[in-house]
Amino acid sequence: MDPADPVTALLTRLQAKGPVTDKFANGYIPAYLELAARYGPAARVLEIGVLYGASLRLWQELFPQGLIAGADSNSEATWPDGTVRIVANQATDYIAEQAAAASPEGWDLIIDDASHDGGLSEGTFRRLWPQVRPGGVYVLEDWEVGYRPEWTGLFGPGMLRLAESFLPMLGPDSDLAEARYLYGQALLFKRKAA
Ligand SMILES: C[S@@+](CC[C@H](N)C(=O)[O-])C[C@H]1O[C@@H](n2cnc3c(N)ncnc32)[C@H](O)[C@@H]1O
Repeated sequence: MDPADPVTALLTRLQAKGPVTDKFANGYIPAYLELAARYGPAARVLEIGVLYGASLRLWQELFPQGLIAGADSNSEATWPDGTVRIVANQATDYIAEQAAAASPEGWDLIIDDASHDGGLSEGTFRRLWPQVRPGGVYVLEDWEVGYRPEWTGLFGPGMLRLAESFLPMLGPDSDLAEARYLYGQALLFKRKAA
């Protein structure tokens, strides 16, 4: 690996701090580097799915002056110092209430990396999309579990159906400005304020 490569440089910095998120192995980091450049160091970031806190450390690194929050149904998950702790199931309205309380002005970036269940993830999108700020983005991670043979037995096609369901939202009067599909990342950009 080339240490001057921005992905490698970021990985090296995070490895010094603890376990590293599988977003590196999955190839998701280049898109997040683009989003970091787009939203700047003070962005507001909410991730659903905390686990050991590795991705919350990634957001702290990419958005050093930002507000970084994580939601997880497991109260035993690990929230790094300086992050906002939300214990909530993604299937409930409570998660949206807690997210709104943490950032009444909304979020520049919301990532769903939780259950990978199409139905639950659809409910999370419906609840949290209104909290994406104009020009902000919602990322549905790991939607490839809906089409890769090694995952479909476990997860079924729900994530693929959900990813597909964003397409009819596109239109001149929609607040969905762009849907960008990468391997394992569906990036949904909200229209900027007029
Ligand atoms: C893939 S891990 C998150 C990994 C983390 N984002 C990272 O990159 O290091 C998924 C997490 O989602 C949480 N989760 C699973 N189902 C959930 C649900 N229905 N509501 C909220 N969190 C859930 C699990 O407890 C687990 O910590």
